[in-house]
Amino acid sequence: MSASSPAGSQPDVGILLAAAGRGERAGPGEPKQFRSLAGVPLLLRAIRPFAQHPRACHIVVALPAEHAAAPPPWLQEVTGGRLSLVSGGDTRAASVRCALAALPPECTLVLVHDAVRPFVTQETIDAVIEAAGRGTAAVPAVPVADTLKRVEQGTPRVVETVERAGLWRAQTPQGFPRQMLEEAFERAAASGDWSFTDEAALVEAAGNPVVVVPDRNSNIKVTTTEDFALAEAMLTR
Ligand code: CTP
Ligand code: MG
Repeated sequence: MSASSPAGSQPDVGILLAAAGRGERAGPGEPKQFRSLAGVPLLLRAIRPFAQHPRACHIVVALPAEHAAAPPPWLQEVTGGRLSLVSGGDTRAASVRCALAALPPECTLVLVHDAVRPFVTQETIDAVIEAAGRGTAAVPAVPVADTLKRVEQGTPRVVETVERAGLWRAQTPQGFPRQMLEEAFERAAASGDWSFTDEAALVEAAGNPVVVVPDRNSNIKVTTTEDFALAEAMLTR
C-alpha cells in the first residue's frame, strides 16, 4: 500500500511538540503548557489527538531543560516507546530543531505542533498529512476576518488600514516532508538567519511550495490568562 493513502498506511508521521517556552504572556507561575485546563494539563491535551492517530510513528516533545530532566508523570500516558523527550532551546525554532534531531528515521513526514493548542481536529491533522504526503509544506490556516490596522509602535496612532484580502492566520500542526524541513534548517544554520516565526516561513524561504489547509477558528493557541478562560468555556459549553 502506498505511503500516501490515509487509511491502512504504515505509521510514517513524526510529531514534534514545541513545549519548551516560558509562557511569559500567561503571567507568573508554572509555564502554561503544564497548567491544568479543566483537570488535564494543556500539553497532554495537545498530544492526545496525535497519540491516537494511526499514521503517528513517534512523538518528540521539546521541554524546558528542567522539565526534560524531571518529566511530569502524566506524560507516561503516551506509552509504547513512541515518545521521546528532549531539552528545547532559547527560541521556538531551536526547540523544534532539537526535537527533529531526535526523530527516528522511519518518520518520513513531520508535523510540528504548538503544545498550547488543545483543540486540533482529526480532520485538520488528516488534511495536513495528506498535503505533506503530496510533497508540499502544509499550514492549517484561517482567512483573516477582521479589518487590520497598522499602529505606530509605542503609540495608539493608526498609520494605515491593511488590505486583508488574501491574508490568512497560520496555525499548527504544520506538515512537511522530513527532508524538506531538515534541509531548510540546515540552510538557516548556514546563513545564520533565524528571523522566521514558524517552520512554514523557513521552508518557504528555502524556495519550497507551501499550501494552506483551511482550519477552524476553534484551534486556538492559549497565549494569555484570558485564553485559559476562553478554552475552559469552550470545553464546558
Ligand atoms: N516554544 C518552545 N521553545 C521556546 C519558545 C516557545 O518550544 N524557546 C513553544 C511554546 O512552549 C509554545 C509554542 O512554542 O507551545 C508557541 O509559543 P508561545 O505561545 O509564544 O509560547 P511561549 O513562548 O511559552 O509564551 P510567551 O511568548 O508568552 O513567553
Ligand atoms: Mg513565545
